[in-house]
Amino acid sequence: MASLIEKIQQIKAEIANLQAKNAEEAEALRIKYLSKKGEITALMNDFRSVPAELKKEVGMKINELKQTAMERINELKQGAAQQESAGEAVDLTRTPYPTPLGTRHPLTIVKNEIVDIFSRLGFTLAEGPEVEDDWHVYSSMNFADDHPARDMQDTFFVEAHPDIILRSHTSSVQARVMERTQPPIRVICPGRVYRNEAISARAHCFFHQVEGLYVDKNVSFTDLKQVLLLFAQEMFGPDTKIRLRPSYFPFTEPSAEMDVSCTICKGKGCSLCKGEGWLEILGCGMVDPAVLKANGIDPDIYTGYAFGMGIERIANLKYQVKDLRMFSENDVRFLDQFVNA
Ligand code: PHE
Repeated sequence: MASLIEKIQQIKAEIANLQAKNAEEAEALRIKYLSKKGEITALMNDFRSVPAELKKEVGMKINELKQTAMERINELKQGAAQQESAGEAVDLTRTPYPTPLGTRHPLTIVKNEIVDIFSRLGFTLAEGPEVEDDWHVYSSMNFADDHPARDMQDTFFVEAHPDIILRSHTSSVQARVMERTQPPIRVICPGRVYRNEAISARAHCFFHQVEGLYVDKNVSFTDLKQVLLLFAQEMFGPDTKIRLRPSYFPFTEPSAEMDVSCTICKGKGCSLCKGEGWLEILGCGMVDPAVLKANGIDPDIYTGYAFGMGIERIANLKYQVKDLRMFSENDVRFLDQFVNA
């Protein structure tokens, strides 16, 4: 009995003088005294042999000792932790932790690139409303009243109003520029357009276009071809070739569709170009005199060319995005892959 009390006192004295240089040493002390096989825990075993009349007193002493030991060791641990963090070198000249920034949307990256190329060729930016009237989208662009593009199939009407629609191409911006400006006109019109199509990997009810318009005296098809060649080579690389195929648009005459040599196989034929060696990227042509006239420009004095391309199409060729829906689903795992440009 006496030896138990002595032991309690001895440990108590030890505890009062405990020291630890670091967190590991403090932990070693906890193990020494308080773990399952620790010295204070061992006292509990000896406690069994204490006569009943002394149990209360001795029990209190052991509990007190345990409490003091716990407090002391915790104190040592905290002291060690404080010392360790104070010892860390603080570099006050270091820049702050980088804030995670978003990335630009791939369509914005491609749009900026297209706009940039044409800006260098002297084109200025023009924008217009997405909710438009029939005149600017169709009538001023020489679409006959019964032209199939006006059909419900393609055009979204606003509240069944026959005249107010969501623009189905950005040619409406060309019309808006022409009605308020006399030539020379050299504009590039990027923007979102809407068509009533079933959403799939290859089609969407909205997409993005960039259209260009140049009206001046003596503008010829040669000018158009040269500008488009320069554009294709800036966009897809200096070895890119172009070819123009005759086509039809109500607002241009003659009209053409332009292909570029395949960005992957360089014209040899691969799965991207389906063995053709060529990829279609835009529509173009000489502005129909009827369009100039409808928009207040004298077709006897001026001629012009226009072209239009889908931004998604160009982005697909650049990044090989297999599913058009990726562009509008806002999945950060997709969007994060495009480095800010
Ligand atoms: N507006 C046409 C379209 O949406 C593209 C185009 C523009 C074609 C200008 C020729 C000239 O398909």
